[in-house]
Amino acid sequence: MTTISVCVGSACHLHGAHDVLSAFSLLLEKYKVGGRVDFAGEFCQGRCTDGVVVKINDEIITRVSREKVYAIFHDKVLKGEKL
Ligand code: FES
Repeated sequence: MTTISVCVGSACHLHGAHDVLSAFSLLLEKYKVGGRVDFAGEFCQGRCTDGVVVKINDEIITRVSREKVYAIFHDKVLKGEKL
């Protein structure tokens, strides 16, 4: 099970956390991996100046924008899946 969490604290919210959440959500639906991915919002990760902060399993990824979501999803989620 892969875990993806997107920070929805106020600083990340201002940096576009909602767009990042939506983009991940669309990809989970498109690739039908929702049953194998635990996806959630999380409160402040203490990296507010580096938002949007995304955590995939134990890896923290900073400065995530909607435009970067597909590449991150491909590298960190799809590569480990047998599709
Ligand atoms: S609000 Fe996202 S790291 Fe603080």
